[in-house]
Parts: sequence; structure tokens; C-alpha cells
Amino acid sequence: MKAKITLAGELKVGKIDRRIFGSFIEHLGRAVYGGIYEPGHPLADEDGLRTDVIKLINELGVPIVRYPGGNFVSGYDWEDGVGPVEQRPKRLELAWGVTETNQFGTNEFMKWCRKANTSPMMAVNLGTRGPEQARQLVEYCNHKSGSKYSDMRIAHGYQDPWDVKLWCLGNEMDGKWQMGAKTAYEYGRTANEAAKLMKWVDPSIETVLCGSSNRGMATFGDWEATTLDLAYDNVDYVSLHQYYDNRSGDTASFLAKSMELDDFIYSVICVCDFVKAKKRTKKQINLSFDEWNVWYHSNGIPFEKWSVAPHQLEDIYNFEDALLVACLLITLLRHADRVKVACLAQLVNVIAPIFTENGGGAFRQTIFYPFAAMSKYATGVSVKPIIDCPKYDCKEFTDVPYLEAIASWDEEKGEVALFCVNRSLEESLELDINMLGFEGYQVCSFESMDGYDVRQENTFNDERVKMHANPLPEDNGTAVTAQLKPLSFNVIRFKKK
Ligand code: AHR
Repeated sequence: MKAKITLAGELKVGKIDRRIFGSFIEHLGRAVYGGIYEPGHPLADEDGLRTDVIKLINELGVPIVRYPGGNFVSGYDWEDGVGPVEQRPKRLELAWGVTETNQFGTNEFMKWCRKANTSPMMAVNLGTRGPEQARQLVEYCNHKSGSKYSDMRIAHGYQDPWDVKLWCLGNEMDGKWQMGAKTAYEYGRTANEAAKLMKWVDPSIETVLCGSSNRGMATFGDWEATTLDLAYDNVDYVSLHQYYDNRSGDTASFLAKSMELDDFIYSVICVCDFVKAKKRTKKQINLSFDEWNVWYHSNGIPFEKWSVAPHQLEDIYNFEDALLVACLLITLLRHADRVKVACLAQLVNVIAPIFTENGGGAFRQTIFYPFAAMSKYATGVSVKPIIDCPKYDCKEFTDVPYLEAIASWDEEKGEVALFCVNRSLEESLELDINMLGFEGYQVCSFESMDGYDVRQENTFNDERVKMHANPLPEDNGTAVTAQLKPLSFNVIRFKKK
């Protein structure tokens, strides 16, 4: 098969916000305990933080991490997790049916962020609590001193404020599984008052309104319109959440699911702009896709109720999952003008790119690789290529392009990177890349992930599903011809001479 791509600087979508490569740590399963925090582990530092995991997170390239939930946050009393560790209460954690020991809390997380070279994205509890406790937490984290909660932080040993810039107003508040779930009207009013008070404490923060829990919710669309109408002036982003699965075992349909995401993003932009038009305002609401991933492998695996940090949601990913993750990231970059934040859910052990053993090692799951490559090379602006390629029909979709692609252009560094997935199960794609708008740029590297069985996974001892380098594709000065293997993720980079 043949395909053609034309790249031109004029086809800029928008600046790539680094926060699009964010992730998520929830108090859930072994994400915190046994994941990022394991005192007594041979590689834990003086704060009990696993340095092997921090190393992998740096390699992954995660500029922002959402915390502490997820469903967990909707029942969380943040005061339980601060102050002397030996005085912290154990709690029945209702979201996931476990016991929360509170040995790790807000200050430990902030310290971890600094060490892991990332920034916090905090969520407040708008389920069982409300605006008052939300603004207290902002005061605890961000106010310098001389008030009840800032002085409480100082008394806990943290003189300087943490200066948390991005705040989620609750989590999935339309879901009946959520503690304190709300109607759109109830949530819109609560979120507006919470955001208002939080910004009165610290006007420099940005807030994220909860959108629908996923695109399949019966109230999707209406929920966004109603809540935004009520909270527009005090929020900056609306959230999207979506997880994908291949329960049917149909790879061709599975890999086309990024088309659903494209449509989802477009729909949410339309609702944001509908409310903007209604309000006759210049203020634009952007998107925070703050939970996304493949999630289904671990469903139904039992755990002991009320135990501490059991094995929950521990999906082991395979090669086709990595290919879909690449397609989803490409889709996010295609909307770089409106998607400013995104969080791969989650980061360690719980539906995550990094997997650890308690007391033992850690490995990179298959999905680690496309994420790391794109986080590293997709800098500058996102550029939408003109694509001419054959399409296919499958059980769940029609007109699926075999080629999914996006480019980034970092003018300062003089670099262009092209990210592409060949969705074909059997055929290579001979890809002609026309560098029309990029005179003087020469191909400098070609890496790919290909040649594995779709069900192939990585393990502690065998990280075989990964990126590898290829010989440079043919470059005749204005066009480059690359062979994209069947079922492959490819990164082709160009450098200005
Ligand atoms: O990431 C796992 C869970 O998925 C989160 O707690 C919740 O927000 C979502 O439903």
C-alpha cells in the first residue's frame, strides 16, 4: 500500500502545552503504596519514595500529575493526610472498598512531585464535602503564612507554600458510583462556589470543571452545557474522561477507537463554544482530558475487602494497546489548540505504564514506549499533515484511514517530528513525505515499534515490546520515502541543516 503526507508550517494547529503529557496517581490499589511510596524498599529514599520508579517517570516525561483521585477524592478528608504520621487515622475507603492508612498525604505528594521533576494537579472533594473545605485546602497549600491553614502547614514542617496552580473541582460528579454524586444543576452551583472561593484565596490558580464521566453517559452534552452555564466565569477547563477496551478481540476496530476520541473532543469543544456564544463572552474554555487509557484486562479480578493497598486494576498491557495509545496521543496533538491538559490514567501499577513488585523491581509496560517517545519529541507546535491514504471498514467503524499521523515543529530547535501509526494488520505502507514547507530539513532518525504479536506483553524480565532504531529512510531533498511496517508506531525526525 502507498500513502502520501504533505507537511507545511502553515498547517499549524497550535502550541503544544506540555501538560498534555500528564498522568495520574490516585489512592487506589498499589499506585501510592508499593508504587511511588514504599518505605523499606531497598531503593526507597529517606522519605520512603521509590527512586527506581522516579527514574522511570523521568524517562516517561510527565510534566504534571493529578492527585489524589479519581473516585477516591469524593470521600477524602484532606486533613487525615497531613501532620504527624503516627496520628493519622485509618479510614474505610468507600470508592474502592479498602482501608486507607493515610501514611501518604498532600505534603508527601508535593515532596514527591519535586523529586520526580513534575507538577501537582490537585483535586478537591466536592462529593461528601464542599466549597469550604476546598478553599481551606488551597489556603493550606498556597497561602504564604499568617492564617489558620497556612500556619497549620508551617506547623507541619513546610515553611514555603506549594504553589499548586491547577485544581480539579471534584471527580466524575455525574456518576452514580461517585460518593456524593450530583445532578448537573447541583454540581454546577457547587463547583462555581468552590472555584470562586478557591480563586479568592489564590487568584493565580486555574480550575477544571468535571465534564461527563465518559461519552456514553446519558446526560453527555447536556451536563457540560448546564454546568458550564452555571460556573463559566470561575472555571478554565472542562474535563473529559474515556477508557478503551478490546473485549471483542477485534484489533482492526480497537485501533480505530481514536476516531471516537476525535469526535468526543470535537463535541466538547462545540458545547464549550455554544455556552461562550450564549454568554457573548470572549473567554474561551479549554479541555482537560484528565483520565484516559486502555482499561479492561484486570476487570473482575477479586481482592480482599478492606485490605490495605491490594492488587487492583493491574492491567498488563500488550502490543496492540501500545498502538492504540499512540493513536490516542496523535489525536490529542491534533487538537492541541484546545486540549491543554491530559492525564494518562494512571502512572504506576493501576492501569499504568510502569509496573512494580512490592519489595522488588519495576518494568516498562508496552504503553510506556509511545508515550515516552511523544513526550520527548512532540515539542513546539502541532502541525496537521495533509494525508492521502487508503481506508478500511471494520465491525465497528467505516472509512478508517490506515495511517494515523501528526507532526510537531520546534522552530527554536530546528526540529520536525512525524508520529504515525500504520493500522494495517497485514500490509506495509510505503509513505512519501513531502516536506514542502520545511526547506532545509533533513531526516535524522527513524524509530519504530513493530513486528510483535498483538497480544505480546512485557514482564519484569523481558521488556521485549519497545521502540527500535531503523536505517534512515530515503531522502531526495524535498521528499522522504519511509516503509511503515504493518501494525507499527513510527517516529521520523527531521533536523534543519
Ligand atoms: O482511574 C480509575 C477510575 O476511573 C477513577 O478513579 C475514576 O475517576 C474513573 O472512573
